Amino acid sequence: MTKTITLDGKAIPFADGQTIMQAATAAGVYIPHLCHHPEFTPHGSCKLCTVNVNGRNCSACTFPAAEGQDVLNNTQELNADRQKITQMLFVEGNHFCPSCEKTGNCQLQAVAYHLNMLDDHFPLFYPHRQMDASHPDVLIDHNRCIFCTLCVRASQQHDGKNVFAISGRGINKHLIVNAESGLLKDTDLAVTDKATHICPTGAIISKRTAYQVPIGQRVYDHQDIDAVSLATEQAHGE
Ligand code: SF4
Ligand code: FES
Repeated sequence: MTKTITLDGKAIPFADGQTIMQAATAAGVYIPHLCHHPEFTPHGSCKLCTVNVNGRNCSACTFPAAEGQDVLNNTQELNADRQKITQMLFVEGNHFCPSCEKTGNCQLQAVAYHLNMLDDHFPLFYPHRQMDASHPDVLIDHNRCIFCTLCVRASQQHDGKNVFAISGRGINKHLIVNAESGLLKDTDLAVTDKATHICPTGAIISKRTAYQVPIGQRVYDHQDIDAVSLATEQAHGE
């Protein structure tokens, strides 16, 4: 017999070992997320996917689906919390969408639109962060890093390398590269690596590709992130 959970009042099936996120995606229900990617071990760090399970909040990307769960996802309260989390991500870094080459292809920006975020709400931190343009083909703009660890996981789990790591905690958290010099040019990162192409923001980008697709013709210029996310993640078998 098919096992089910209730998601926003509707029964959806799940298989043993699936997380709530995986069951929801397979059922065509979008749960907002930034650090989750179907190819990599869940990390549970951005908290955007927080859902309410039988009265308790938890991360849908890490929490296993189980019989008897009554899960709330698309509620006003949870979406308001998600909007606040997104606002915090914006003010903690330096995200200037109109001048960012990732605009229209950026998941942070797209999630903000999805959640109807109209302002930053919190005072901007304007942290002092560096850029690393030392690599011939790949650039890191630390101003745009949201510490999702996707580049860390992609480098380790897909590329078989260990180029990136997160160091520090709280406001001192930062992305580092594993080279004595601390510079990307002294790592074995290649432009063809998965880690080069996985960043949900414009923090890691390939050089000389920025405006190949003009603004106005980019993925989120015409589609909401819920549709894009469901289509790409269902194609991965979630
Ligand atoms: S550089 Fe991009 S992929 Fe890596 S942790 Fe920062 S936001 Fe995530
Ligand atoms: S997507 Fe679940 S915590 Fe980030």
